[in-house]
Amino acid sequence: MSVTTDGDRVVLTHPEDKTSTVTILNYGATVISWKLKGKEQLWVSEAAKLDGSKPVRGGIPLVFPVFGKSKTDDALSKLPQHGLARNSAWEFLGQTKSNPPTVQFALSPEIANPELTKVWPFDFSLILTVELGIDFLKTDIEVTNPSKSQELKFNWLFHTYLKTEDIEDTFVSNLVGMELYDQLLQETYVDKHPVVTIHEEKDVIYRNIDDDRLIQVVRKGEPIHTLKRHNLPDAVVWNPWIAKSKSMADFEPKTGYQTMICVEPGHVHDLITLAPGETWNAYQLLYRDTLKYQAI
Ligand code: BG6
Repeated sequence: MSVTTDGDRVVLTHPEDKTSTVTILNYGATVISWKLKGKEQLWVSEAAKLDGSKPVRGGIPLVFPVFGKSKTDDALSKLPQHGLARNSAWEFLGQTKSNPPTVQFALSPEIANPELTKVWPFDFSLILTVELGIDFLKTDIEVTNPSKSQELKFNWLFHTYLKTEDIEDTFVSNLVGMELYDQLLQETYVDKHPVVTIHEEKDVIYRNIDDDRLIQVVRKGEPIHTLKRHNLPDAVVWNPWIAKSKSMADFEPKTGYQTMICVEPGHVHDLITLAPGETWNAYQLLYRDTLKYQAI
């Protein structure tokens, strides 16, 4: 069996290589583990709550319909940081393909967290498709506006926590020349650095990155994660570093910032607007690749 359900989670095992697995929690449809040839690729806090009491600190939480806190949209501003998808239990729809093993989860207002749909009363239908290759993980999202009369305005983001052995000798490549908004400095500027390195707290949003630009996380010259995006023009790079890690109760160990980096592809700079009946689709593909240097 390449797909098994185990209470609150679904586990996919690749039929041709049993050491490639992915585990998805029904809560938030959060990927909480992805093993490639037996090696964990995602960072998950040792204190992460997996019982539905709060969003998971680690893995791939899903951000919808708002990234951060909205300051511009009245309805969205009533939602908590990063919206309602990561704090709602999704419905497991089942397996849609046996090789590569593929499953789907769904979320709509009928089953989403009622406290949150009360303050943001919009109709929506989300389908998350998770596909496990021998050497890749694809997470694909489809958002439909089922309303007959109302527009649907939203952000989407895959809040991907990637694992590295040591952040001090890790860099993120292929973002040189991109415009970014620095959430800490609250300034917009163009990144002139050939690569992104992390030696302090970092919280930046790169904008308008072409689909064909691969983002790579490189450690000691070796690309340990390659990220391909479709329809996700923005990317957040986040590392909480020392003080911010201490302030998050569910971030453990407190030195965990040394072994993680969030690279979060999304559509967050502006809102996607869907007319009644329209559908929007995007995906994130994680895999291993050789070093690809893409200059501007
Ligand atoms: C990142 C944001 O996407 O998520 C950061 O850019 C934020 O500003 C981080 O601190 C974690 O957010 P949360 O709500 O999971 O603590």
